Amino acid sequence: MRLDETSEVRPAPGELLVEAVALGICGTDLDIISGKYGAAPPGEERLILGHESLGRVLEAPRGSGFATGDLVVGIVRRPDPVPCPACAAGEWDMCRNGLYTERGIKAQHGYGCERYALEPNFAVKVEPGLGPLGVLLEPTSVVAKAWDHIERIGARARSWKPRTLLVTGAGPVGLLAAMIGREKGLETHVLDQVDSGPKPRLVADLAATYHRDPRVIADLAADIVLECTGADSLVLRVIQYGGRDSIVCLAGLSSGGRTVNFDVGGFDRQAVLQNDVVFGSVNANRSHYEAAGAALAQADHAWLERLISRRVPLEHWREAFVRKPDDVKVVVDFSPEAP
Ligand code: BGC
Repeated sequence: MRLDETSEVRPAPGELLVEAVALGICGTDLDIISGKYGAAPPGEERLILGHESLGRVLEAPRGSGFATGDLVVGIVRRPDPVPCPACAAGEWDMCRNGLYTERGIKAQHGYGCERYALEPNFAVKVEPGLGPLGVLLEPTSVVAKAWDHIERIGARARSWKPRTLLVTGAGPVGLLAAMIGREKGLETHVLDQVDSGPKPRLVADLAATYHRDPRVIADLAADIVLECTGADSLVLRVIQYGGRDSIVCLAGLSSGGRTVNFDVGGFDRQAVLQNDVVFGSVNANRSHYEAAGAALAQADHAWLERLISRRVPLEHWREAFVRKPDDVKVVVDFSPEAP
């Protein structure tokens, strides 16, 4: 990982020229840095990181729907070139053939540079009222997609009226998932392992309940479980916990490669007899960025501000990639003055 000079970006006709304001760092970035995940653009050796963007439009072509000074977030995924039926329908988050690309992650340079080009079709306007909190739009979009699918699955039974939600993991994704759960009026529980730092308070301030004992997973038998850690032991517990008509959404990405004993027959028996659903959710399409914008607008902005536990100026960028005990969301600040 290094901070480097690149050639000045030249937007293609129709594209926006955007200057970076902030960049959120997440577990995916750390996986890319450690070589476990991600890919540089074809024929290149290095990848410009960054997929949680917030930028300001410097130049917008006439008729693009954007104007100089607009705050924007860049959508992460680009449709595959075939395109598959999902990508053809604007549902690149559901890409069928895996040939999609992702800025800052898979075969496309990211938003971690001072100026970048952005196609208007893949730019999302940030409400001026949200300002610097717009950097939370991308992680919120991932959660909004998970919620969208939970509700579509729930609608399989006309009588479905969920009451309880359990979120595993009080990182940014887990906290944003809990925030949306509260906005939906659900009794919300969050499980994490820490007993100090900002997370327990952030959960309490959502009027949700914080837990440290994983036995809560079975005891609570929540209607909805949103797994946001990707940790083996939790994934195993949530898929086996046995709520009735329950929906378990796996939204944390595991690194894989470890095996455990698993009672397949017992799992099958329970899932069949109880109509359980376990499903995975990744990425977000434009409708989810819009839903995320609405969810953030509704939220308590002072609470969202606390989610951003550290803002690291660009000149100290390396510190943003070192995890500290009280970190929730760490952001690299590109602009010396706040937007
Ligand atoms: C990003 C998603 C992306 C996923 C898999 C996540 O960190 O937020 O947009 O699809 O990684 O690459």
